[in-house]
Amino acid sequence: MKPPPAPKQAPSEPDPTALPRHLAIIMDGNGRWAKERGWRRVRGHEEGAESVRVAVRACRRLGLSALTLYAFSEENWGRPSAEVKALMTLLNRFLKKERQEMLDQGIRLNAIGELDKLPNSTRDLLFQTMADTAQGQHMTLTLALSYGGRQEIVQAARALAHQAMAGELDPGEIDEDTLAAHLYTAGLPEVDLLIRTSGELRVSNFLLWQIAYSEFHFTDVYWPEFREPHLLAALHDYARRQRRFGKTGEQVRGQGG
Ligand code: FPP
Repeated sequence: MKPPPAPKQAPSEPDPTALPRHLAIIMDGNGRWAKERGWRRVRGHEEGAESVRVAVRACRRLGLSALTLYAFSEENWGRPSAEVKALMTLLNRFLKKERQEMLDQGIRLNAIGELDKLPNSTRDLLFQTMADTAQGQHMTLTLALSYGGRQEIVQAARALAHQAMAGELDPGEIDEDTLAAHLYTAGLPEVDLLIRTSGELRVSNFLLWQIAYSEFHFTDVYWPEFREPHLLAALHDYARRQRRFGKTGEQVRGQGG
């Protein structure tokens, strides 16, 4: 299936008062985009890295506080080793190329997942770039790498169990905030909007806890083709939603929400 082309007319800028604070994206369809053109899958990842650059710049310009990208899942380790290697090389290239832009734009780089599984060169570069950009105040760019939502919750439960066994924590006092504080995303705002590209309607073990109240936007567009007009269209879609958090529409309107 050929994904639809970009909207012909560039959508207008979304209402700045109705933007998500935290946008998360499942960047899917790189392989299919390349295969449909008779190219190697890696070419799709290369073009996908360009879409990453576009999304980061646009989110920073629009004033989002946080952008979290699913760049490599725990399950992705099972892909052919040449593809895994190519993805790590692309990540290294991205980190080197975007470092100065992140510094200039006040973007703090962050990473979540089982980072000790990454190859040494990628991990070193990642940690160095995170340290270099740590003072960035305008936006947090989080790369989910070797990430799995269930694994994240398991490690939080394990950390809490250790604290309880050491007598540092009363199990009866554990609440949602305690658990959230032990997730990789502690300190980031709630995920307001989750976008998934390529027509798949799944969450694929991404931010399972954090998307409890998120709005979802699914698009048929493959990630390598997902550029600023598509992002703006998703943000317009989000701005039209009424977020009720379990309350009634009347209650929310009464709050001016
Ligand atoms: C899913 O497409 C995408 C990935 C597994 C990797 C995402 C990586 C990038 C966008 C490029 C590098 C990242 C950064 C941060 C520079 P798929 O391969 O599963 O596509 P398919 O479902 O069509 O096979």
